[in-house]
Amino acid sequence: MKLIIINGPNLNLLGKREPEVYGNQTFEDYFSELQFRFKEVQLEYFQSNIEGELIDKLQETGFSYDGIILNAAAYTHTSVGLGDAVKAVDTPVVEVHISNVSERESYRHTSYISPGARGVIFGFGLKGYDLAIRSFLTD
Ligand code: DQA
Repeated sequence: MKLIIINGPNLNLLGKREPEVYGNQTFEDYFSELQFRFKEVQLEYFQSNIEGELIDKLQETGFSYDGIILNAAAYTHTSVGLGDAVKAVDTPVVEVHISNVSERESYRHTSYISPGARGVIFGFGLKGYDLAIRSFLTD
């Protein structure tokens, strides 16, 4: 089973960015925990602050990997291009958000990713990535 986690803008700052919303742990640290927990999974991680690079990564992995876990961060709420890419690829995409976006500002209530996603997980903190991996394992 080959899965990739794709994280969008500002998620490279996890651990220092608004810790009251996103927690104190860096993603690199959490990713090591996931690799330890899911040894049977070939798990990769990619982060970019650049919209086009995220689209390129979806296209690159979206015809050969078993699953994509995408937290497009702020681009979730703005990017028609990312939404189109999610619909264009064959690999199922699970959308993840760390925070409970529905209890936050109204501009975070719209997602261009959700219409093409297999499912959406939000509000569980970093554990959402763990749950997304499990959703592929129980297919
Ligand atoms: C986020 C929620 C987005 O609204 C925000 O722009 C982010 C992170 C989350 O994981 O909770 O950067 O995707």
